[in-house]
Amino acid sequence: MESERRIDWTRAQSLPRRYDARDIVPIITIPGIKRSSQPSQCQKPRGWIGRFVLRSMNRRHARVTQWGLQHVTIRENDTILDVGCGGGVTVAKLAMAAPHGKVYGIDHSEASVAAARETNRSLIAQGRVTIDQASVSALPYPDSLFDLVTAVETHFWWGDIAAGMHEICRVLKAGGRLILIAEFYNGPKYAKYADRIRKFTSMAVLDVAQHRALFGEAGFTDIRVTEDVPAGWLSVVGTKSR
Ligand SMILES: C[S@@+](CC[C@H](N)C(=O)[O-])C[C@H]1O[C@@H](n2cnc3c(N)ncnc32)[C@H](O)[C@@H]1O
Repeated sequence: MESERRIDWTRAQSLPRRYDARDIVPIITIPGIKRSSQPSQCQKPRGWIGRFVLRSMNRRHARVTQWGLQHVTIRENDTILDVGCGGGVTVAKLAMAAPHGKVYGIDHSEASVAAARETNRSLIAQGRVTIDQASVSALPYPDSLFDLVTAVETHFWWGDIAAGMHEICRVLKAGGRLILIAEFYNGPKYAKYADRIRKFTSMAVLDVAQHRALFGEAGFTDIRVTEDVPAGWLSVVGTKSR
């Protein structure tokens, strides 16, 4: 029988302060200045600024990641994919939770892939982790490979979220699970900023019902939403139907 365990992420490492999504989202609007056609450094890190942003995200996303991962069971021999893996700290955490499994990370940014490979250098050498450069809309994996797919602080940047969700569903085994974790969504804390963010960034500002619809339309069932309303955090778990 497969052993199951839940990780108490709050004990896994010391926790940085909670920070506000306003730290990363340009909400202040300057009259006459339109948003750049370049993707933001959060959407596609690049260059030396991207390397700095990736190091910072590895630290700053630790708390929301720990909170979110408590809402899903990780088995010690699971095959796991972390989509939009950024600097790769979540990949390392997942490898700790699944010591007899295998963890893959993908990201469409060359800088993210390089940073995630550096973060996971020894796990890659042991054959426990693989990092690939790819878009969520074209995952370089066969059907039904993964037990669990995680996506932390990334789905709102995907452009075509529905296509990404379908592609994730394809690579999940029947009964496999997807968890989206975000420290920003269109809930009570940030609703007042939603219109400005939509106007000045390419970020998708979705509410709970829209998240549920995305999961349902992609073929997930048993959709479980957890909100931390004061923090403005969201996790959504869905299971690929059998
Ligand atoms: C805000 S960062 C979060 C990184 C990491 N998950 C974390 O929690 O620190 C978003 C990441 O998603 C990646 N990303 C955005 N859109 C993507 C897409 N369509 N396919 C693959 N990766 C994507 C970006 O390159 C970036 O590394």
